[in-house]
Amino acid sequence: MLTRSAARLLSTQTRAFSTSSARQTKVAVLGAGGGIGQPLSLLLKIDPLVSSLSLYDIRGAPGVAADVSHIDTESTVKGYTADQLDEALEGVKVVVIPAGVPRKPGMTRDDLFNTNASIVRDLATSVGRVAPEAHILVISNPVNSTVPIVARTLEKAGVFDPRRVFGVTTLDVVRAARFLGEVSGNDPKNTVVPVVGGHSGATIVPLLSQNAYGKAISGEAYAALVRRIQFGGDEVVKAKDGAGSATLSMAYAGAKFTNALLRGLNGEKGVITPTFVKNNVFADKGVDFFSSNVELGQNGVEKIYPIGPLSAEEEKLLEACLPDLKKNIEKGYAFVA
Ligand code: NAD
Ligand code: LMR
Repeated sequence: MLTRSAARLLSTQTRAFSTSSARQTKVAVLGAGGGIGQPLSLLLKIDPLVSSLSLYDIRGAPGVAADVSHIDTESTVKGYTADQLDEALEGVKVVVIPAGVPRKPGMTRDDLFNTNASIVRDLATSVGRVAPEAHILVISNPVNSTVPIVARTLEKAGVFDPRRVFGVTTLDVVRAARFLGEVSGNDPKNTVVPVVGGHSGATIVPLLSQNAYGKAISGEAYAALVRRIQFGGDEVVKAKDGAGSATLSMAYAGAKFTNALLRGLNGEKGVITPTFVKNNVFADKGVDFFSSNVELGQNGVEKIYPIGPLSAEEEKLLEACLPDLKKNIEKGYAFVA
């Protein structure tokens, strides 16, 4: 039986999903058997904008699909085994990728590159061939490199559209709202701040000055808050003590971003959230991908917003972010070349 707080969470999540639109969508999860994949599949099953769920993994997806398919929402669910990737991708409009290994204590996200780069490249190759118009949401780390890998792979196949490839950085936004809420004594819904840049350590740049409560934080409290947002992932990796990294909060963040994209695809206006996409925000610094606020619409990325006014501290954070981010992006490109 669900505890009262779990029931409240589920009903909040269901209410958080818009039901206003008639058009519904087929969504695939690649890596559905994993720590993120399972709860993400659950949350997508209760999203009314998902009409059909295609769950793929090299192990365990049919079991997850059978389980999730008993949930009393309208969408249909099917699981696919290792040799059924093409079938899993047929007709999908949105592909979410949490496939790949997670960190253990002492590792950086970049340490995952050797394993995850080829997993993501191979999955992107199949998406490019079977569902070339699909929107691809990359969760697998290191996001700063895996997103350029997906982009280059699709480019080589002649099907890359920068409006349809996203690095999911929503967990950084979720953490920033939660942690600022905690230190300022507010409901996180009032402490939302844009988090720009990339998704690892110093490349994560929270723009606290763009929220009234965030602007009021200074000195040591400011430094500690920025550090906690930048290294929130390490906090979970350490606490899990070798059993992986964030899965539940990531599934929540992944479902939240997927719902935002689906609302945009279905014609809702004003859906704006940070996401790591190819853009010109710092092209003059040789940085091809950068997370900043993006308006999502019927074609995916409709508009990329400038990062807005920065405090002196944020200027410094950005200065530290850009060279690291550039290196991570180039490493991804080099892998595909
Ligand atoms: P996990 O090991 O629990 O699950 C990964 C799943 O991927 C497994 O079920 C595995 O069988 C599957 N897989 C491996 N190769 C595959 C392939 N070729 N095709 C399909 N499936 C394949 O790991 P997890 O905790 O779910 O994390 C997954 C990834 O997400 C990691 O790289 C992790 O670092 C990353 N992550 C990203 C964020 C973010 O904010 N973007 C947050 C948390 C975790
Ligand atoms: C996170 O931010 O929690 C993820 O990127 C997983 C990790 O390795 O920290």
